[in-house]
Amino acid sequence: MTQLDTATQKNTLITLVADGVSFQVDVSSGTPAVVHWGRDLGASRGEDLASMTAEGVPQSNIDAPLVPGIWRENARGFLGRPAILGHRRGQDWSQLFTVTSLESSPTSLVVESVDEAAGLRVSVSFRMQPAGVVLISQTVTNVGADAFDLAELTTWLPLPDHAVETLDFTGRWVKERQPQSRPIQSGTWAREVREGRTSHDYTVVQLALTAGAGYQDGSVWSTGLLWSGNTRHLVERLPSGHTSMGAGELLLPGEGILQAGETYEAPTVAATFSSTGIDGMTDRLYRWLRARPEHPTTARPLTLNVWEAVYFDHDLAKLTELVDAASEIGVERFVLDDGWFLGRRHDFAGLGDWVVDPAVWPDGLDPLIDRVTSAGMQFGLWFEGEMVNADSDLYRAHPEWIFQAGGRIPPEGRHQQVLDLGHRGAYEHVLGQVDALLTVYDISYIKWDHNRVLTEAAHLGAAGVRRQTQAIYRLFDELKLRHPGLEIESCASGGGRVDLGMAGHVDRFWTSDCNDALERQYIQRYTQFAIPPELLGSHVGPTHSHTTGRVHSLAFRATTALFGHAGIEWDITEATLEERLALASWSGYYKRKRGLLHSGQVVRVQQPDDTSFVHGVVAHDRSEAIFAYVQLSAARGSSPARFLIPGLDPESRYRVRLVEPAGAALSVQAQTPPWLAGIEASGLALAEIGLRPPILLPENAILIELDRL
Ligand code: GLA
Repeated sequence: MTQLDTATQKNTLITLVADGVSFQVDVSSGTPAVVHWGRDLGASRGEDLASMTAEGVPQSNIDAPLVPGIWRENARGFLGRPAILGHRRGQDWSQLFTVTSLESSPTSLVVESVDEAAGLRVSVSFRMQPAGVVLISQTVTNVGADAFDLAELTTWLPLPDHAVETLDFTGRWVKERQPQSRPIQSGTWAREVREGRTSHDYTVVQLALTAGAGYQDGSVWSTGLLWSGNTRHLVERLPSGHTSMGAGELLLPGEGILQAGETYEAPTVAATFSSTGIDGMTDRLYRWLRARPEHPTTARPLTLNVWEAVYFDHDLAKLTELVDAASEIGVERFVLDDGWFLGRRHDFAGLGDWVVDPAVWPDGLDPLIDRVTSAGMQFGLWFEGEMVNADSDLYRAHPEWIFQAGGRIPPEGRHQQVLDLGHRGAYEHVLGQVDALLTVYDISYIKWDHNRVLTEAAHLGAAGVRRQTQAIYRLFDELKLRHPGLEIESCASGGGRVDLGMAGHVDRFWTSDCNDALERQYIQRYTQFAIPPELLGSHVGPTHSHTTGRVHSLAFRATTALFGHAGIEWDITEATLEERLALASWSGYYKRKRGLLHSGQVVRVQQPDDTSFVHGVVAHDRSEAIFAYVQLSAARGSSPARFLIPGLDPESRYRVRLVEPAGAALSVQAQTPPWLAGIEASGLALAEIGLRPPILLPENAILIELDRL
């Protein structure tokens, strides 16, 4: 550990380096200021960066050069949004922090600072991960005599002037992660979430890019919050030209009140830099996530979820048929979705009463679970523990346990209210009932839903989203502690709770309620910017999509579902023999290839137009890869544009093969391109010349395997 020598101001440039990224913080001006976040400078690391980046003093301005540092105090002459917003009865709203301690190692830096007069102590830690991702955690402690009302603590990072574009994601139910980009202009671009949960509209990561940066080219800086409540991602450009990106929890009024001695811990921010485009950013995020001890390491089991097969219509005979059909196909995990608990014949009743409904399950769940487990499959069960229907025993006993303000009952969402886990009794009720089921039954997996937004989320009148978010993390961790090996899927009407914070507590995300393969191509592509495929549920849905009405071939649905934690969500008892055989073949293929699909580097190819997608997964040693060419809509030319396959070893030769684990794609052509019969080519030729796709009908895809010779 290095200590700051405040007398000589030595050791004031701290450099954290990993995997080609360097993150340099200068404290010579008395505040930690990030002077470089980008490519590792190697031998140039020791250059006088502070001098190189210091600014002159313009006319009509503060008379000294500005070094705002990460706390961005107004007291330093800084006129952008400060990191800390808050006050103590109208006082102490403007602070000036002085560094009190600094500890650094080659991969970490912790700086503590204080403003005695304002009664606040702050700390920031930067932890460089081996994959080049920097985890940044900030706290503020009230060392004053009475309460400080903290409105905001944002983690800010300066962007270099050549970061000129932003990219983030918006979305809604069944259409999550729609990309939107814009030039960075003067002003503040804010992506705020006030839903009390992560939201379908959550960006997961906010990107800033150099001009024209793409999947493999250009520089990318991104921030992502490890948080599942209300959030704010910001990109700010000041009249001075300074550009920064910030991320933090969006605190509701009063949520940040700190009594004397209390500390607020801001959600950690994952800050990622890539000099090799968006794919490089994704690769770093995946390698960081995959290295965490909580990341699932066992093969991701092929899953069958019964929701789109039976909905609320739970019938043991029918479900048994489904179990048998699933088992024949090679399914490894069978998940009983909504509809099994007290009074839950429809979505107007039952939430809150997590006991098996004897009216539908007179012998409990054992007859079904036994069938599932004796076929060698795991059994999973659906919950939505943070919710309650007015028509439930829980609500009748404890109407005071729902979130509400001003004596008003909030508007219902999907006919339900939100259970305020801030009430100890409510928390214990949910934990107790779920725990009892996990104890009695052989349940190795739970799908945990969250189907409505929070409105007037008040705990005894005070805003309670932060507390609720912490409570659900605690509850998941407690369940896992009590039931070692338990896996949890995070769902919120599909992809409404997909974020880097929840990734620390669950093993899978339900990516979207949309199982339409065409929509899924987009949703999965963009969710995978930050979340690796092994964490993203992707199911083969019914032939006729329930959420869009589109009809897709099994081959297209199965090829799409392959690039995730694969599963099936379709009444396969109604599938034809041919379809079941195709599913069985695809299931075998998924099992053979999931090792690669769930560990390799994701590569997306920039196509010349928007009629096709090309994406793949390449093994880190470049020995093998799987790519998909996806015809989203009819190709513009009568000869579809050649597609390139980057990411392989340019020096090696590969065997290139078309594979059809779930049947052939539909195409119309008098003659097919000859490579479809199999060829050998170098990685360089594949990256520079590429392949000519067959003339596919729209909404069809082919799968290509590449193996190093
Ligand atoms: C949500 C989920 C679905 C399903 C239903 C059950 O919409 O996203 O997958 O579990 O709830 O009610």
